[in-house]
Amino acid sequence: MNQQRAIIVTGVSRGLGFDLLDLLVEAGARPIALGRRVDRRHKVAVASKACVFVAADLSVLPSLDQIDLASALPQTADEIVLISNAGVVEPIGTVGAIDGASLAAAFALNAVAPAIVARKLLAAADSRQAKLRVLNISTGAARRALPGLAAYCASKAAAAMIFDCLAAERPDVAIEHIDPGVLDTDMQNTLRSADDQALPVRQLFAGFESEAKLRLPRDVAREILARAGLP
Ligand SMILES: NC(=O)c1ccc[n+]([C@@H]2O[C@H](COP(=O)([O-])OP(=O)(O)OC[C@H]3O[C@@H](n4cnc5c(N)ncnc54)[C@H](OP(=O)(O)O)[C@@H]3O)[C@@H](O)[C@H]2O)c1
Repeated sequence: MNQQRAIIVTGVSRGLGFDLLDLLVEAGARPIALGRRVDRRHKVAVASKACVFVAADLSVLPSLDQIDLASALPQTADEIVLISNAGVVEPIGTVGAIDGASLAAAFALNAVAPAIVARKLLAAADSRQAKLRVLNISTGAARRALPGLAAYCASKAAAAMIFDCLAAERPDVAIEHIDPGVLDTDMQNTLRSADDQALPVRQLFAGFESEAKLRLPRDVAREILARAGLP
């Protein structure tokens, strides 16, 4: 019997998510893109049914329950793979300076939305007697306290713990945490362009660029998929 795998990628308009989606489309995996928008190239892929786009602002938590992810998944899927990639590095600022609303917004996108999306996919997997597998795109910052990045560090750490709790509750759900390293994306640009007072470790991020340590998201996306055996 042929295995049917449904792959969902979040945050696909640019950066690592763009390349993950692009490589999956190229490989004929018919991925499901979940995010606010897709690049022009992937609009064409959606029109030709090479991928499915489910529009969602993942930071607007009350709207997430309304998203119909289940109908985007093939009824016959026996494995559902979530690549939880969408993320935000802001607000940048020391704990004494960041406001509660922007701190909550970072937690909404980086930690709560991945949990809600995983919960919806778990329900869809259970109703199909399919397996759920989650690739959590994490970061070294989830394990390292960086001055000025409390919102990012803490919300990414929270996401990892939520997924670990899910794995403890449901040993049949496979959870993998992936640290992609430092990537040449908008996120790194935001970090090295930050104010030194808001981000006391700004030089660390400036150094990644000046020392040519940033990796191309396409290369990293290719490695992530190959290591995960996807598609
Ligand atoms: N860059 C690095 O060096 C680095 C290092 C370690 C880990 N990571 C992790 O890798 C992942 C990807 O990072 P990246 O560098 O590719 O980031 P990026 O270039 O800033 O792209 C972020 C992606 O997330 C999406 N997103 C942001 N807010 C959203 C929202 N409210 N709803 C739906 N989608 C939203 C963006 O879509 P819009 O265009 O709609 O905003 C975009 O597609 C993140 O989880 C990050 O924590 C990155």
